[in-house]
Amino acid sequence: MTTPPARLRTVAVLLAGGTGTRVGLQIPKQLLKIAGKAIVDHTLAVLNSAPEVDEILVLMTPGFTRDVERIVAAGGYTKVTAVLDGGATRTETTRLALDTLQDEDCNVLLHDAVRPLLSHRIIRECVNALHRYEAVDVAIPSADTIIVVDGELIEDIPDRARLRRGQTPQGFRASTLRRAYALATQDPTFTGTGIDDCSVVLRYLPDVPITFVEGSEQNMKVTHPVDVFIADKLFQLASASVRRPATAAQYAEQLRGRVAVVFGGSYGIGADIVELLRGFGAQTFSYSRSQTGTHIENPEHVEAALAQAYRAAGRIDFVVNTAGLLRTGALTETDEKTLEEVVRVNYLAPVTIARQSIRYLQETRGHLLLFTSSSYTRGRAGYSLYSSTKAAVVNLMQALADEWAPLGVRVCCVNPERTATPMRLQAFGEEHPDSLLSSRAVALTSVDVLLSEVTGQVIDVRQFDPTMTAGALGAEAQAELIEKSIAAAELDAEAEAARQHATP
Ligand code: CTP
Repeated sequence: MTTPPARLRTVAVLLAGGTGTRVGLQIPKQLLKIAGKAIVDHTLAVLNSAPEVDEILVLMTPGFTRDVERIVAAGGYTKVTAVLDGGATRTETTRLALDTLQDEDCNVLLHDAVRPLLSHRIIRECVNALHRYEAVDVAIPSADTIIVVDGELIEDIPDRARLRRGQTPQGFRASTLRRAYALATQDPTFTGTGIDDCSVVLRYLPDVPITFVEGSEQNMKVTHPVDVFIADKLFQLASASVRRPATAAQYAEQLRGRVAVVFGGSYGIGADIVELLRGFGAQTFSYSRSQTGTHIENPEHVEAALAQAYRAAGRIDFVVNTAGLLRTGALTETDEKTLEEVVRVNYLAPVTIARQSIRYLQETRGHLLLFTSSSYTRGRAGYSLYSSTKAAVVNLMQALADEWAPLGVRVCCVNPERTATPMRLQAFGEEHPDSLLSSRAVALTSVDVLLSEVTGQVIDVRQFDPTMTAGALGAEAQAELIEKSIAAAELDAEAEAARQHATP
């Protein structure tokens, strides 16, 4: 009987040796900040957290390796073993990575540093494909017709059904890629510009079959200035930036021993967050006007609430503020009292909560979570105070995320689409339930954000996520699943308690 071959290690090679002339900045584009972090930081976070990846090599633009080393240290990317200088061309960068790996036969996954929205699904499928093939590419169908030109004229228009747009990672058995590059080196016509690693294998080892796995529209390459804008918007989607634990047990594992303070926890999204956190086993303190007489715009009340929770629990990991006032109407018809009240509750209160929370959150490297509204990007008639205070909260969150990054404290804003809450019911009356998000789904995403490493970001929660592919579960369906598993876990706990009770 033959023993199966030992599982090959998978080394991810992060190709970050370019300069990004097309984006046209003073620094290499992979160091540009999108959604609060350098592009290469996002990409490293995905690779480092992928269970299939054993080691990461980074090849960076010469002169900027120190910047990446700092990012690796701050992000705790423990799989990174070296940050080296890249080459003059992309293929030269690959060649340097291969030299570093010496003769080891492993799987190599070469990934463009400037594709920060890579998913774990793609990594997993590439590594799986390498069990059966020696080379794998990642590709998506092309929405545009692709034409082949010769000078000013069209030479060919291939059938679109057979065309794909290539992305990365590209995965190979290291020995195969080495053979292809050895042959390329002997070819005096090989310039190495404008081609990728699959092209090198296809050209020099035409007998090696190259398979491909489905990429995604999100796995875009930041190439032109407009891509920076698009990537920033994609990061706002919860599906792109926060990973959802798969089961209630995983939530419980991550929340065990954690302490949360929720302001505005008596109804709506706040109450659901409290209920979910408690359901998952986090010690949770809820403060509101009706429950505890806490007025969040009053610094003394906020201070007392936090001090009480800290005394009782000995730590605070999460501070969440969901309280807000929705008053609509023309500004000229708004009385002074309403004006003051809206500004105090929607803007001054988050400022106060932030100022009072930081001393606790820095002890736990915790997370402050605020809420904004989809109207924050554009004011409209009747919403002047509500939208502008919500816009201020976003700006505040971004500033604090920067200020508190050295302390390891994260700050984010959840931006729920129209949600079924008592506040909304009061302002707009009955609306068709299918047109609204459930506050439970928003609460679940809020918990996901608290558990994520994300900071400085607005996280959109939408009923229909435009990036979700068919078959993926929407937030609503997932919330339902999670609820069922919490209920099951609670039943188990009750049964266990009853059993222990019955045992003498
Ligand atoms: N790359 C590399 N070494 C090079 C050139 C590119 O590792 N000598 C990497 C880039 O850092 C990027 C990926 O390959 O992560 C894709 O490169 P691309 O964005 O097409 O090229 P850049 O050289 O970065 O940008 P531009 O062509 O606009 O200058």
